[in-house]
Amino acid sequence: MKSNPKSLTQRPAWKALAAHQKKISKLHLRRLFAADKKRGDKLTASGAGLFLDYSKNRINAETLKLLVQLAKEADLRGRIDAMFKGEKINITENRAVLHTALRAPKTAKIIVDGKNVVPDVHAVLDKMSAFAKRVRSGAWKGYTGKRIKNIVNIGIGGSDLGPVMAHEALRHYSQRSLVFRYVSNVDGIDFVEAVQDLNPAETLFIVSSKTFTTLETMTNAESARAWLLKGLGGNKKAVAKHFVAVSTNAEKVSAFGIDTANMFGFWDWVGGRYSMDSAIGLSTMLAVGPENFRKLLAGFNAMDEHFRKTPFEKNLPVLMGLLSVWNNNFLGAETVAVLPYENYLKRFPAYLQQLTMESNGKHITLAGKKVTYQTSPIYWGEPGTNGQHSFYQLIHQGTRLIPCDFIAFAKALTPLGRHHDLLIANVLAQSEALAFGKTAEEVAAEKVADWLVPHKVFEGNRPSNTIFAEKLTPEILGALVALYEHIVYVQGVIWGVNPFDQWGVELGKVLAMRIAPELESKAEPKLAHDSSTNALIRRYRKLK
Ligand code: F6P
Repeated sequence: MKSNPKSLTQRPAWKALAAHQKKISKLHLRRLFAADKKRGDKLTASGAGLFLDYSKNRINAETLKLLVQLAKEADLRGRIDAMFKGEKINITENRAVLHTALRAPKTAKIIVDGKNVVPDVHAVLDKMSAFAKRVRSGAWKGYTGKRIKNIVNIGIGGSDLGPVMAHEALRHYSQRSLVFRYVSNVDGIDFVEAVQDLNPAETLFIVSSKTFTTLETMTNAESARAWLLKGLGGNKKAVAKHFVAVSTNAEKVSAFGIDTANMFGFWDWVGGRYSMDSAIGLSTMLAVGPENFRKLLAGFNAMDEHFRKTPFEKNLPVLMGLLSVWNNNFLGAETVAVLPYENYLKRFPAYLQQLTMESNGKHITLAGKKVTYQTSPIYWGEPGTNGQHSFYQLIHQGTRLIPCDFIAFAKALTPLGRHHDLLIANVLAQSEALAFGKTAEEVAAEKVADWLVPHKVFEGNRPSNTIFAEKLTPEILGALVALYEHIVYVQGVIWGVNPFDQWGVELGKVLAMRIAPELESKAEPKLAHDSSTNALIRRYRKLK
């Protein structure tokens, strides 16, 4: 892999950006807009059905030029090509990174270890479609002959967050006669509440786990099997009619008792948090149907093509990735708020938390060196307008700089009176208020008492992007998710980290497996942890 031998902060573009930031640090968005009446039209780009207005960022033409130079010095073009070609860019796991192959058209050819993977992708899609049609039409019957009415996806992390988010996002397109539930937490309440009003005879479980070893998922799957067998008289044959699996691990699926004929596979080159468009999306396909699922994939693919082919200056993921580096590394912003003005996207920020932070929450570079700069910001958010009445105060008048990504749609899926105009009025008002604020003179002109003026001033100059699309469709959801997947890659390339491993989650898993028997043993265990952990274990044992 070709990478720039110069450490990031020693590269010419980085140094130039640092100097440039000092030079323009006093520049206010008010002045930038006043100086160029067309700024709001110029600093925009579009692709795959999404329109991006990034004019309300603290940048000028020089900033953009230097950010593009930064991308070039990191060989972003080469790294994009390497990912799409299936090179093993996930070096710590020696794996290709090919979520883009999941949405490639049938005619595409993507070679991994000498084999074209595209026919395999389409074979799984066809198998999922056939299954989804049978369940949705009622042809697939449960063990007692009843049709399936409830679908429970059991999975966690990437095997849960994508499906949950997509189910919410595409609810408008879903078959309402089917009930969907998602169980992820090892806290038993998650499972108990999910099934408390369900009839086992009408319930299908999808056990979704790339590895089929994840503690939470396997514990929930065991409880689901026990619940089902209890409800259906105990005959183990019932399992085959009520359990299917999505996994890369056929051996473990079969050991659990699920017929591998009812297993939907994927591959080690699909990372967990990049898997909602693989068979992990089976629950999504059951909800919205195979046709809509393929539209979702088409949207992903449209953004992939945009990312691969568009010059950096007009490339949505490249622009947003570079702007996030600017805000994070040069303006000191620690977080990014993602604020969808579309209630169907209410789980989108939660989905993005894993995508962004599990990917780029790293402090070691590809060369094994500790970074000397910040990597992933903290992504978070809530749908507007709810957030406005909660945490926006801090974004407007707090001491921290919080860049915002606003997401909005021109058409409501179910128009209702004035609601949509009011919703959009709010999103536009927020980005305007954040950028331009309200000066002391403007406040004073409203005859506000002198002492109150500073409290009512809005400094403004707070950056935001606005992502706008016509309407939330499966295609647009695919494009939106792919946009952020590629933003994460752009960031990872600039920071020189591997966005595709997640070693940081391992230690806690190992320690939990060591502690569990100490909590469960009848005899008082000999504890060898630190004094805090030992005392907490003893307290739990006493109180439980
Ligand atoms: O613990 C982190 C993680 O490995 C995620 O990356 C992944 O999405 C999740 O666990 C679930 O893993 P699996 O699909 O193998 O159950």
